[in-house]
Amino acid sequence: MFLNLSLNLNLSFLPPMEAPSKPGPMDPDLYFRGYHIAMTLNQSAKEEIKRRADIVELIGQHVQLRKAGRHFVGLCPFHAEKAPSFTVSPEKQMFHCFGCKKGGDIFAFWMEYHSSTFPEALRDLGERYNVEITDRPYSAEEKRRAEGREALFQVNELAAAYFKKALKDPVKGKPGKAYLEARGLSDRAIDEFALGYAPDEWDGLLGFLKGRRIKMEAAASAGLVIPKKSGGYYDRFRGRVIFPIHNLREQVVGFGGRVLGDALPKYLNSPESPVFRKGETLYGLHSSRKAIRTEGRAVVVEGYMDLLALNAHGVEGVVATLGTALTADHIRRLKGYAGEAVVVFDSDEAGKAAVLRSLPLFLNEGMTARAVALPEGQDPDDFVNRHGAEGFLERVRLASPMFDFYLEQKLTFDDADVEGKVRVLKEILPVLGRLTNTAQRSLYVRRLSERLHIGEASIWSELKKSTDRGGEASAPGRIKQRLDVARVEKTFHRELRLLNLIVHYPEALERLAGSNWEIFLSDADVLGIVKAFFRAFPGERPFSPERLMESLDSDSAREKFREALLLPPLDSENTVDLAITELEHKIRQIQLAASIKEAKARGDLEGLNQLLKKKAREINRPSS
Ligand code: GTP
Ligand code: MN
Repeated sequence: MFLNLSLNLNLSFLPPMEAPSKPGPMDPDLYFRGYHIAMTLNQSAKEEIKRRADIVELIGQHVQLRKAGRHFVGLCPFHAEKAPSFTVSPEKQMFHCFGCKKGGDIFAFWMEYHSSTFPEALRDLGERYNVEITDRPYSAEEKRRAEGREALFQVNELAAAYFKKALKDPVKGKPGKAYLEARGLSDRAIDEFALGYAPDEWDGLLGFLKGRRIKMEAAASAGLVIPKKSGGYYDRFRGRVIFPIHNLREQVVGFGGRVLGDALPKYLNSPESPVFRKGETLYGLHSSRKAIRTEGRAVVVEGYMDLLALNAHGVEGVVATLGTALTADHIRRLKGYAGEAVVVFDSDEAGKAAVLRSLPLFLNEGMTARAVALPEGQDPDDFVNRHGAEGFLERVRLASPMFDFYLEQKLTFDDADVEGKVRVLKEILPVLGRLTNTAQRSLYVRRLSERLHIGEASIWSELKKSTDRGGEASAPGRIKQRLDVARVEKTFHRELRLLNLIVHYPEALERLAGSNWEIFLSDADVLGIVKAFFRAFPGERPFSPERLMESLDSDSAREKFREALLLPPLDSENTVDLAITELEHKIRQIQLAASIKEAKARGDLEGLNQLLKKKAREINRPSS
């Protein structure tokens, strides 16, 4: 949604009175005026950043990319997929997902991946590539969002500093320090994870923030202070050790706090805010992602303390969920760094159930997953303290594929009687149906057959029934869908053909300019793109796809343009001329057909006669 960089920019610089009065396609002149104002204000910094950055290197830090011809491809971080349709072009410095259609330049990627605003992206990337950004006027909406987020980051940053200092305080910090020490955490771990302590006071942080002239509304929306009914505020975190939670941009987005004793709730977490979404955040990922990449594997645990204990023993590449279930977004993040996840949840019922629930997610996201079953009653923290890093890593090495773990768990509990077996089958079949790897599926069917003592053939037939019934669409629905797609594709095909031609051989425009090409195009987006080409030619050389992209006025047009740019040319240098001749011929045919229809409708027999003769000549032309 924030991919629409050029449009955002463009709108932001339109003075309000010039904005179109009603929604709808924008007046091109107005559009260009706004666009050029935007260009002159922000373009130099933006372009300098783009000159210095390499999109493959930047995206490659978050998505595993491999070279495929002229492009790099990987699994899309923005939607569920098992086969890569996420494409990055080093040549065009552009990315595009052929699955979800998201795409654009490095700014577009940054904003989408970090859920941030354009001003933030400009600042982040400016810092990263050493390009100075002076304050720019943004749109009111952009400004409001960016400032709101900025205020949250700022108050979190201050609070983190306060908690950290409190832990170091020889008097006030003593209980916190003693607790962390008792749990085996050294000063090194405390520093590395910026751990802190919230003294048992109602207004410790409150007073600190007031002294720094922080608006209490901001502190309250970050969840650090809570409004009192009688007016005023009080500290949320009291008498707890504090675990700051960072995003991948190394900013503090929230906190976890643990009581020192047995009081409840044991853990208290910051509430969600515009900068903190638990379902997208993994504790520790910002510091462990390097190790995850190197090892090609992420270890996923449930708790802060599990991660810290493992880290204290030297086990790296660990992330922890934040007291919520593992989500598709978590997995999408992880698979950008490694091909495999090893889930090590607590060995209690809740932990096992959470592992079982994550299996379909891993299958959907195409990420290999294994699961470790720890001895009854132990969590990773207990285990590593008893058996050390080697003992833990041994478990990780021997971890079974998650599907086996799933079968193991399900069958030990449910396979006693016939009803139990049927229950297991009903639950597993939809999961099996989702496996795209047919070899893997056959293997699991065999294993299921062995474990349940049910013939393989029966399982296959049940599997077929379950996939026919379930899933996205019923069989007739799927067929209809396919037909619809085919119909649209057929008419769309010739338009894409034209687009492909002019994208790769813009010189073709010169010859096409003479023919009535508009009659050929029914897709408004393609029409818009071709028009933009004609506007840009022959004046503009060398051809700048980027500038042309920015002049398009809809997301869908930009999508189609990106795809046209990334798909290989259908013609070679030698066949371009022939392709244009064919196009011209088709255009004439369409025009003739339209004229004939018109003449018939008018009852103009003489005209019709002429046209039909013309048509006959046209058909006999050598090029057709
Ligand atoms: P320790 O007892 O400190 O070893 O913690 P643990 O990691 O063994 O705790 P547990 O397995 O109970 O919880 C795992 C994670 O769930 C924690 O790290 C928290 O993120 C979350 N969690 C646990 N208890 C609570 C709670 O009472 N409230 C909230 N909001 N989250 C909790
Ligand atoms: Mn524990």
